[in-house]
Amino acid sequence: MEKIRLRVESGICEIYFGGGWESLLSRLCYPGNTFIITDSNVNSLYKDKFPDFPVLVVEAGEKSKSFQMTSELIVRLAGLGADRNSLLVGIGGGMVSDLTGLVASLFMRGIDCAFVSTTLLAQVDAGIGGKNGVNAGGIKNIAGTFRQPEFVICDPLFLSTLPLNEYRSGLGEVVKYGLIGNRDIFLRLEERYVSGSSPENDFCESVIPECIKIKTAIVEMDEKEGGKRRLLNLGHTAGHAIEAATGLPHGVAVAHGIAFAALVSEEMGYLSYDERERIEKLLEQMDLLPPLDVAEGKISGLVFLDKKRAMKDISFVFLKGIGEAVIEKVPLEVINGWLKKKGY
Ligand SMILES: NC(=O)c1ccc[n+]([C@@H]2O[C@H](COP(=O)([O-])OP(=O)(O)OC[C@H]3O[C@@H](n4cnc5c(N)ncnc54)[C@H](O)[C@@H]3O)[C@@H](O)[C@H]2O)c1
Repeated sequence: MEKIRLRVESGICEIYFGGGWESLLSRLCYPGNTFIITDSNVNSLYKDKFPDFPVLVVEAGEKSKSFQMTSELIVRLAGLGADRNSLLVGIGGGMVSDLTGLVASLFMRGIDCAFVSTTLLAQVDAGIGGKNGVNAGGIKNIAGTFRQPEFVICDPLFLSTLPLNEYRSGLGEVVKYGLIGNRDIFLRLEERYVSGSSPENDFCESVIPECIKIKTAIVEMDEKEGGKRRLLNLGHTAGHAIEAATGLPHGVAVAHGIAFAALVSEEMGYLSYDERERIEKLLEQMDLLPPLDVAEGKISGLVFLDKKRAMKDISFVFLKGIGEAVIEKVPLEVINGWLKKKGY
């Protein structure tokens, strides 16, 4: 088992890679009661592995990432006798960790939480870094807080039951890490999915901790997303709108957003034609660019709705090469122009 430590002003989070369910059991000597939040799919598959604590099950799917569910969970926790010393453990993918993190930060003005990340996407991204949130009014993650979990447990073992489309979704975020911080990850993905000659049998075993380390390093520099952490939003400007418009899994929508960011980066003269082609080819070979069945103008409309309240300029993540990204402020109208040109 490997331990990766994330240390920021608000606290320390220990991320354990490997160790399976025993790793959770050994970390639950808590002064107060422990409560588990999970979703219906994860509960059906793994409830026998859960430690013996009250389990609050929410319906699987993005719909549960809502204010209504946050408030329902808070009321149920109060009814079950949770108090300031309780620990909330979210067991599931990014939906569960985003929701659990928000509930933990609001219940009695804040209690401790921890995650067992059971999707690839949550292991490499959503469960790490302390950002939580819910959707409202059709806008992704419009409300949330920063709250570091006490610990996070990741293990590729949990991925054995993950449907292929959800595994692929996690790979969308892995491509992102290859583009923003570690060219080697991109090259290994190319070997695996483009040339089909990967010698790595234990791909997840090696790539998940690498992604976790990239994310922890960025979060340690910029916990509250004032600057460098925005690099992690590569592909998310269009991606969030694509996710909301199509219901595609998060990482697949982000992959479309990455292809869009690469295209715009090429138009701006930041990225070469060849590199943009390589990125698109990899995403296609990974089945991460399924055709989008949405009316023209819908995605640009959603991006506008998403961003207009916040600011006139958007911090857009451009690619300057494979493994190198930069953040630049771009007026919202300019981004809308690019989206419309693409037919979005
Ligand atoms: N907070 C952050 O920093 C951050 C970063 C990236 C994404 N996110 C959020 O994460 C969410 C996406 O995360 P996700 O892709 O994990 O989605 P998810 O949590 O909805 O899980 C996807 C599906 O997989 C199922 N599942 C989970 N674990 C399983 C397992 N081991 N076996 C079988 N099925 C399993 C779930 O029930 C669900 O149906 C989005 O809401 C996104 O906004 C947050």
